[in-house]
Amino acid sequence: MGRRTWLRGLACTAAATLPAIGQAAREITIRLSHVVAPDTPKGLTLERFRTLVEERSGQRIRVQIYPQGQLYGDQDEMQALQLGAIDMVAPSLSKFGPIGFPEFELFDLPFLFDRVADVRRLTQGPVGQRLLDRLGRQRLLGLGFFDNGFKQMSANRPLLEPADFVGLRMRVQASRVIAQQMRALGARPVTLPFSETRRALESGVVDGTENPVSNFWTQNMQVVQQDLSLTQHGYLGYAVVTHQRFWFELSSRDRALVHEALREALEFGNSIADAHNDKALTALRVTGAVRIHTPTAAQRQRFKSAVMPVQAELARRIDPAWLSAVREALPSTRAG
Ligand code: LMR
Repeated sequence: MGRRTWLRGLACTAAATLPAIGQAAREITIRLSHVVAPDTPKGLTLERFRTLVEERSGQRIRVQIYPQGQLYGDQDEMQALQLGAIDMVAPSLSKFGPIGFPEFELFDLPFLFDRVADVRRLTQGPVGQRLLDRLGRQRLLGLGFFDNGFKQMSANRPLLEPADFVGLRMRVQASRVIAQQMRALGARPVTLPFSETRRALESGVVDGTENPVSNFWTQNMQVVQQDLSLTQHGYLGYAVVTHQRFWFELSSRDRALVHEALREALEFGNSIADAHNDKALTALRVTGAVRIHTPTAAQRQRFKSAVMPVQAELARRIDPAWLSAVREALPSTRAG
């Protein structure tokens, strides 16, 4: 089903179940929680969403954003959404596995994507739509995908090939694919919420981590990590998720307004994400606070070969049709 048909379907269902009178004037606050800094691709995307919604509704619909995990962190934001304590979240795709959607871990497969355009072929195609549809099983509603970018490795030593990782404790998101990737490299994965990562690096609970440069820079990780290696080994992106209960309480007109504002905000976010990561890298270079390394082609090849078994591990956990669909969307990929 095309995206437009699907949305029309939602609008019709809601129009049929809600009284028409009095809906348009209702004042609404959308409470939106996320875990990163405001000055990141995600923070700026959601801020744009807030501006568009508030402008277009004449301030009748307000968006209250709680950044930096100040209200809920990785572990409890989905539960808060389920309970109605917040109305929208935008977790990384790596965080859907533990709540029962391991198929989202496709996006964590190392070296699956060469460029963001490849990601788009999944998120904008049937694979993306089917993933969002799956969220309905828990009465969640996926409203769209957006990018941060490619992840880089950090520690207090260069991490350019498998031998460099041996024995290190590496902080990972709650994704089994990412944990497996670290094991394949000889490191020990330690799953921690984003909000605890910097402190864990500082106290030595973990030795290193991975993230796009924008997250590294805005958490001041350069103060606790000496080496940043530009490995570009995996993708980090997000899905915006709401709860059906909240969504269907909106009038069909408000749903259309919110959805269009979000669509434009996600497009905006995707258009600035790369530049924002580049800006963070330039800032890191200028401050000289961290040593920056780039793997050679041979080192990158060894890295890639070492992590290839991770795909087979995911193939054992999810319906093989997902990996076939990825192969179809990305003919050059080695998925599956
Ligand atoms: C992380 O936990 O490392 C990232 O998912 C944080 C984020 O939301 O960008």
